[in-house]
Amino acid sequence: MEKYHQASATLLLQCFPTVLFCFLAAGIAKADAATKLFVFGDSYADTGNWGRSASSWKEPYGITFPGKPAGRFSDGRIFTDYMASFLGIESPIPYTTAMATAQDSRSRHLQYGMNFAYGGTGVFDTFIPAPNMSVQINLFEKTIEEQKVYTKQDLLNSSFALLSIAGNDYLTYANKKGNPQELPGLTQRIIAQLSENLNLIHGLGVSKVAITTLPPIGCLPVVAAANSYRDCNETWNSAAKYHNQQLHQAVESLNNRTSRSNVFGILDTFSALMAEFKKSNGSGSGDNPLKPCCIGVSSDHSCGDVDEKGGNGGAKKYVVCNNPSLSMFWDMLHPAQNGWQAVYQTLKPSLHEMMI
Ligand SMILES: *[C@@H]1O[C@H](CO)[C@@H](O)[C@H](O)[C@H]1NC(C)=O
Ligand SMILES: *[C@@H]1O[C@H](CO)[C@@H](O)[C@H](O)[C@H]1NC(C)=O
Ligand SMILES: *[C@@H]1O[C@H](CO)[C@@H](O)[C@H](O)[C@H]1NC(C)=O
Ligand SMILES: *[C@@H]1O[C@H](CO)[C@@H](O)[C@H](O)[C@H]1NC(C)=O
Ligand SMILES: *[C@@H]1O[C@H](CO)[C@@H](O)[C@H](O)[C@H]1NC(C)=O
Repeated sequence: MEKYHQASATLLLQCFPTVLFCFLAAGIAKADAATKLFVFGDSYADTGNWGRSASSWKEPYGITFPGKPAGRFSDGRIFTDYMASFLGIESPIPYTTAMATAQDSRSRHLQYGMNFAYGGTGVFDTFIPAPNMSVQINLFEKTIEEQKVYTKQDLLNSSFALLSIAGNDYLTYANKKGNPQELPGLTQRIIAQLSENLNLIHGLGVSKVAITTLPPIGCLPVVAAANSYRDCNETWNSAAKYHNQQLHQAVESLNNRTSRSNVFGILDTFSALMAEFKKSNGSGSGDNPLKPCCIGVSSDHSCGDVDEKGGNGGAKKYVVCNNPSLSMFWDMLHPAQNGWQAVYQTLKPSLHEMMI
């Protein structure tokens, strides 16, 4: 991976006198050698699979990047984008965009892999009607075995999968007023299914497969709002800790059973976010790290809501902070670009370690 970075940098430097020719040459080199990134999971990784009715396609989502709503559940870049930049490639095309793109112009986009993640989904079905992770993996399998978009050989050389599970399975459980005593059982079912998913993806030829830990769900603004965003809820955070502990064991056991070393890896977003909260908490700036940038004007409104009766595009039912680049969270559930960038910086050493 690192070699690939250096090669393309050298190519660009040598290319100055004959820019046009070199762009062509670089394009061809890339098509052969580009690492491919395949992404599965939820809104923490989705870069535009939802249709235009989703909040991710409404103002003010996307104001930082790309400058308008474009399907990300944030003001700007999310972890998928940082992961792609780590691999030296463009952010992979969302599956639904790829399917809607004409065949002849598709291949340029497909060379960097594909993003199958849908906001609101989980390992199991959630309260949001969208493809669960198993269905997403099925779609990926079809691109190899039926549509022949990718060959196993392509993948075995240089490919990376990112799985994001940020907690929709748990949110669904909470919405159904599930009994807290039964939570460990749910976690065990989730982890067993995740193990199977990780194995399936590697079995399809992907050489490195990384999964994020559950974030500190007790610190999400939607939970922390109950105490004015001052503090995390420890009940929820310990559920996340238990999940992550089980996940570590499952991934270790998968690696033990795989002949090649270091195939499966964990990206510890839980610890990265906690470290960031600690850093900005009481830093004197007066900024509370758990308070999101974009907030509904009342508890029945969320970021992006407009009053349809207001006419003329509707009156905004939300307020946006002055400087999103100071916020950890964008809305009640999702990190801001600033938060994702901080997480990425913290996780970079783990990513380098995975590449060995
Ligand atoms: C995922 O969704 C499919 C289609 O709705 C369903 O058949 C399958 O049981 C679900 N998988 C899991 C693990 O819940
Ligand atoms: C895969 O890697 C091998 C050796 O590392 C190389 O010879 C081959 O050309 C590569 N194939 C593709 C499709 O990139
Ligand atoms: C944390 O969340 C649980 C479950 O929703 C709730 O019962 C508890 O009161 C919350 N704790 C605090 C300190 O708000
Ligand atoms: C993995 O293998 C190591 C070394 O053989 C062993 O100590 C460890 O208990 C194994 N872990 C699991 C979860 O199987
Ligand atoms: C912020 O600091 C206060 C006081 O030390 C502490 O009670 C609280 O748990 C901290 N919040 C976070 C999110 O770390």
